[in-house]
Parts: sequence; structure tokens; C-alpha cells
Amino acid sequence: MSTVSQPSEQVELNSLDSMIKPLTLTSQGVSLLDQTMLPTEERYVTITTPEAMAHAIQTMMVRGAPAIGIAGAYGLVLSARQFLETGGTEVSLLANQLKAHSNLLNQTRPTAVNLSWAIGEMLATLVAIMATDSSITNCVELLTQKANQIHQEDIQACKTIGGYGAKLVPKGGVILTHCNAGALATGGYGTALGVVRSAYARDNTVQVFADETRPRLQGARLTTWELTQDHIPVTLVTDGMSATLMKRGMVDFVVVGADRIAANGDTANKIGTYTLALAAKAHQIPFYVAAPLSTIDRSLVSGDTIPIEERNTDEIAMINGEKISAEGIQYFNPGFDVTPADYITGIITEKGIARPGYEGSVMALFEKAL
Ligand code: MRU
Repeated sequence: MSTVSQPSEQVELNSLDSMIKPLTLTSQGVSLLDQTMLPTEERYVTITTPEAMAHAIQTMMVRGAPAIGIAGAYGLVLSARQFLETGGTEVSLLANQLKAHSNLLNQTRPTAVNLSWAIGEMLATLVAIMATDSSITNCVELLTQKANQIHQEDIQACKTIGGYGAKLVPKGGVILTHCNAGALATGGYGTALGVVRSAYARDNTVQVFADETRPRLQGARLTTWELTQDHIPVTLVTDGMSATLMKRGMVDFVVVGADRIAANGDTANKIGTYTLALAAKAHQIPFYVAAPLSTIDRSLVSGDTIPIEERNTDEIAMINGEKISAEGIQYFNPGFDVTPADYITGIITEKGIARPGYEGSVMALFEKAL
């Protein structure tokens, strides 16, 4: 059986807006909040070329599935601007350049489908423009509009997700989250932290635990910083503590983001998510995934074929530049894991909440989006 539940009341959008602006397109380029420097330094860098954007995504100056999708779209705007500024006039050559930069951007991080989705949207926009217009100036203008639209729609989708998710959180409930699926990881509101933000706006007695998220510490460095910026109290725990918190009755609700969701609901997210889902099931605690439809990859029947990024082993071999393990050993450092759909209580999207029987309920959400 498949069900899509849509809370009967109107979704409230009186959610706590975030002050955080992870990325902004300006006339100079793309202003990025460099996430590798947080929480010690709030430094903005201006990215002016698609190559620099690819580097920023790869090195995680910008990270999080929806945010890297938006960054990829803006990277193609930078490519089109470059073409115009260097005197390009032939639209077919612009198309060739955009395709080359799309390949470069797409190769940076393989797991989050939002990157290839947003790039696909930009290339489809170019094809549509080319059918009626051959002016490079217009191409740049319409590609800019499309990238801004992808960005704004993500913020709106996250607010709607937040509204749906907030209604699932019990009064005074304790929420546990993993990694950073917040304003920093999206257009500026957040998926899992969008739920936290909206829940807190409705009931400021809810509490939040953030897992530190080894090895890149997105929970410790980014989630605690982000929630503190927005005056939402948060308690930091190490990844290994989560099951104990659950056993002690200290967690009511788990919500995480997603990098890619297969048609059957299997969900790739930051490494450690699956462990949380197992522990949540063992303790009968609801485990929700919050993600926009752009994170769902219906071309994959299950999570078995989701590409999992393997990251530099120094991330686990070193702490603060110092080696922490014996010489001569091997390392294994996948950045993501796949939580089987059986462990997921629901997938909260901007079109409603998909429930088990995900093949049908996910399909129904896409039909609503048409
Ligand atoms: O490696 P990262 O920091 O890009 O991983 C991010 C995550 O796993 C997030 O949970 C996911 O992208 C959802 S962001 C709304």
C-alpha cells in the first residue's frame, strides 16, 4: 500500500527565517560563505569562473545537496558571462562551452543528485532559448533568471518542508539530527534544519541534539554555528552517543537530509545516517528524511546503484593536521551511506509526506508537482 499524507491544515509559513546566506549571485560573481572556515571565521569569497566554482564544490567551501545544485547552476551563469565578456557571438559555441563546464561541475561530487539535476535544468533552458533566440545577451539573461529561480524555489520548498515536518514533532519534543542539512546546505533555509526551524517557531520548548558527524564534523562545525546564529538552542553529541540517548528516552524524533533518494525510498545521506536509522528503529523512534523532490532520483529503482563518494583518507587519518593512527594501515572513507527504505518513517517533501510503499507514494508526489 502506498500513501502520501498531506497535513490537513494549511502549511504555516510563519517559520523562523534564517539570517544565513550561503551563496548569492552578484554582478561581480558568486559570493560564497566559505564553509571550510566555520565556525571560527565568517569569510565570504567571490567566485568568478566556472573552474573556481568546481574547485569550491570539490573542496566543500559550499556543500550540502541543494546548495551544490544551486552552485552548479550559478557556475554555468559564470560560464555564459565569460563567453559574453570575451566577445563570443555564436550561440552554438556558447552551448559547447556550457556542456564542457557542465561536465567539469558534474564530476566534482557524485552522490548528491541535485548537482546534475540543476545542471540539467540549465542546459534544458539553453536548448529552449536557442529554439527562439540567438542573442548571447539574452541567453545570459535567461540563464541568470533560471539559476535564480532554482535558488528561490529551493528556499520556498524548504519552508514548505519545514511546515509539514514541524507538525510531526511532539510538543516539547527532542529532535536529533545528523550532519548539516540547514540553510548552509541549501538555498538558505534548510531541509532537516528547516523542520527544526519551523518546529521551534511553533514551540520554543523543542530541543535539538546535533551529532558531530565524523570525519568532516558538519554537525559540530556547521549545525551548531547555524542554529546559534538563529538563536535556536542546540546540544552537541558525538556520533557514538546517539543510541545511548535513545535508550535513555532522550530523543523523540530524528530528522536528516538526503543527497539522493531512489524510487523505492532508499536514501543516501552523510555517513552515519544508516546507523542512526537502525538505532531509531530499535527504540521505536520516528526517523524522517526531509528533502525536496529535486533530491529524488526516479531513474534508480533502489539505493544499490547510488554512487557513493569516497573521500581523501586524510580526513580520517588526521586531526588538526596531526596523524592519529599507526603507520602502515589501510583506510576506508566513504562520505555517504544508504539507509534502506524499511527504516524510514516518512520522506517529507514540499509536495507532502511520502510514507512506506515509497514506489507509489513518491510517484504520487511527482504527479502532484505537475
Ligand atoms: O558532504 P556534505 O557536507 O555535502 O554532505 C551533506 C549531507 O549529507 C546533507 O545531509 C545532505 O546533503 C542534505 S543537505 C540539505
